[in-house]
Amino acid sequence: MEFSMKVNLINDDALKVSVIKSGSKYRESPAVVVKPSVELASGENRLGPWLVKVAGDSIDVSVNNMSAALRFSYSNDQIIVRGNLGLNDSVYGLGEKALPLNRKRFRVTMWNTDAYGYRYGSDPLYVSIPFFIITNKNGAIGHFADSTAKVIIDLGAEKENEFTVIVNDYQLDYYIIRGPRLRDVVTRFINLTGKPTLMPKWVLGHQQSRYSYYPQDRVIEVIKAFKEKGLDNTVVYLDIHYMDGYRIFTWNKDRFPNPIDLAKVAHELGVKLVTIVDPYIKVDPNYQVFKEGINGNHLSLDDDGGLSIIQGWPGKSALPDFFNREAREWWASLIERWVKEYGIDGIWLDMNEPAAFDYPNHTVSSKTITHRLDDGSRVPHDFLHNAYALYEAMATYDGLVKAGKRPFILSRAGYAGIQRYAAVWTGDNTSNWEHLRLQLQILLGLSISGVTFIGSDVGGFAKYVPGGGGNMLFTLSPELLVRWYEWAIFFPLLRNHASIGSPDQEPWAFGPRTLELIKNLLRLRARLTPYLYSLMWLSHVNGEPIVRPLIYEYPNDEEVINIDDEFMLGPFMLIAPVLTSGNAREVYLPEGEWVNMWSGEVLSKGFHIIDAPLGKPPVFLRKGSLIPMQEAQGVLGVLTVLGEGEFTVYDDDGESPSPTPSTLSLRISGESINVGNWVNPMPQSPSSILLEVYVNKEPGKVTVNDIEVTKARFAIEPGPPSWYMDKMLYIRVMPGSTVKLN
Ligand code: GLC
Repeated sequence: MEFSMKVNLINDDALKVSVIKSGSKYRESPAVVVKPSVELASGENRLGPWLVKVAGDSIDVSVNNMSAALRFSYSNDQIIVRGNLGLNDSVYGLGEKALPLNRKRFRVTMWNTDAYGYRYGSDPLYVSIPFFIITNKNGAIGHFADSTAKVIIDLGAEKENEFTVIVNDYQLDYYIIRGPRLRDVVTRFINLTGKPTLMPKWVLGHQQSRYSYYPQDRVIEVIKAFKEKGLDNTVVYLDIHYMDGYRIFTWNKDRFPNPIDLAKVAHELGVKLVTIVDPYIKVDPNYQVFKEGINGNHLSLDDDGGLSIIQGWPGKSALPDFFNREAREWWASLIERWVKEYGIDGIWLDMNEPAAFDYPNHTVSSKTITHRLDDGSRVPHDFLHNAYALYEAMATYDGLVKAGKRPFILSRAGYAGIQRYAAVWTGDNTSNWEHLRLQLQILLGLSISGVTFIGSDVGGFAKYVPGGGGNMLFTLSPELLVRWYEWAIFFPLLRNHASIGSPDQEPWAFGPRTLELIKNLLRLRARLTPYLYSLMWLSHVNGEPIVRPLIYEYPNDEEVINIDDEFMLGPFMLIAPVLTSGNAREVYLPEGEWVNMWSGEVLSKGFHIIDAPLGKPPVFLRKGSLIPMQEAQGVLGVLTVLGEGEFTVYDDDGESPSPTPSTLSLRISGESINVGNWVNPMPQSPSSILLEVYVNKEPGKVTVNDIEVTKARFAIEPGPPSWYMDKMLYIRVMPGSTVKLN
């Protein structure tokens, strides 16, 4: 055989098949954080839930009622894996793809690409995650083809009953991940590739960006405008124009005469500053960063040993060689110095596919650019391409940690495992209705591929598309902007960003009516912070996605197999956004009963036409919901729907690195609601809990810790005048209380 194959059990979660071309030197994967254990022999192996038959270049796997029969081969410098696909199978995963959530019958390429102006069906985009999940009525099983080179995955496009993975690499670590349910595959994949990092709490606020805000006074003006208009905004971004000739880690002194002051003023106004940092090091012998890069041998080289030079924003540029530890340490020290010296709060990593203007598709591909690995060997770029951004994020993360921060990094490109370091946004989307729908599909795919902290440029970035003759083809209408906010407020990353040359699209840009609608949506967003923050913690601790397609929560409901225009925020909220121009939409509600968040109306499983005037996205709450809400200072609300349910509120000071969380458990069973005591409380942990319970009618009797409470005993300030109003019952309790309704 031209290649060798080895099968290992990782743990009960996953099986690993390592394939390597004979005579090649193995490189460690940056994606996987768990080491293999037992090596499997040829023949039949029974290990825990696994039954694995290894025979030459094929393996047969059975696990939790699902099976996989894989054949591996090597020819023409490609490793090829074939497996079977059933007629009733569906396929999910694959990360950032401009395709329906169910990927069956598509053929995609994994190759991080600068995809400006992409559309439905454009492939590839910026992020590559060669992981997919096959589901059918027996359960779910995952496949992860861990290669950082170009990988093509055909999911029954060419042959109806077969999937094919074509890997342009001399090595491949192929993982099979066990279910039994889709959600188990997702969380096990996250265990394998690393838990999402816990970001600071401020990242959950509204974030404002544009290409670019300058000069310095303009930045302050934007920050103040939010304040004056009564809008909460926690982050402002500085795009490329802050730099001196696009030299990273420098300032344009005319535009930003006093950046330290800028950060100070921003911080006084409660706003954080995030600067873009591109991977382009301007080739300029007088530029300190370039000199350090050359002297330290930290830059990518050509195979003849010369500096490899590409075209980036600063013109001729060198690329940091993130694949070796020394270069990463150097980069980390640059980041550390940068954030410390100027009071920068987070880093925005862009163009890190890496993009280059002098390459086809604006993206570096090369057999002659080489990177130095930790063991000193040099490997051509094409084998490592998809991991460039992951290693860059790793180094950036270390720099922020060294600066004493809980890191916030926003990255455009990524590979499996990027969630350990960064949030991801969907790059240069476009301000049109097609994208309003498409962004949701892309984000749901990313979310169940391990990348849990995600968002899209709200309002849309591009107003032109390639080939449009330079005409502005899309203008953002106020209706589209409001509809965009209507679902974006339920995503972890909420950032409004627009391209150079496009008209303003801050929340106030379209006049008072639009501003008012957005303001109300941002208020709802702010109220949801404790829920979002708890979900961020849960993704950090358990690997659960924050935003989930319906199939994640309802794997046995055949109606949801192809639904990607509705989603769940955590286990309780179902959002069915309006994605076309109009004032109503059809909504599918899975098993059980649902409460319309706005009206309190109870709806059962099935299709419903729901009115959705501008500013009121259809939102439904599952039975047994317990949704922590920020109501008033020191008051934690809990939006409650009767039924069976539980939830743990997670909190901490929001900023310190590696905190121990304060937790509060909430439980509901029938008509009895239990609020636990804070575990590991902080001085600011709310001691007042306001249960906000959806009820059909005013209950006869309410007891708190078995003592009947009457209307007279309540004085909710600020709050509703009565403890029962419009199908809502308000009960104010202390932690450690059990409430019963009769
Ligand atoms: C890229 C980014 C975009 C940014 C621009 C200028 O197109 O995707 O978000 O504004 O570069 O830095």
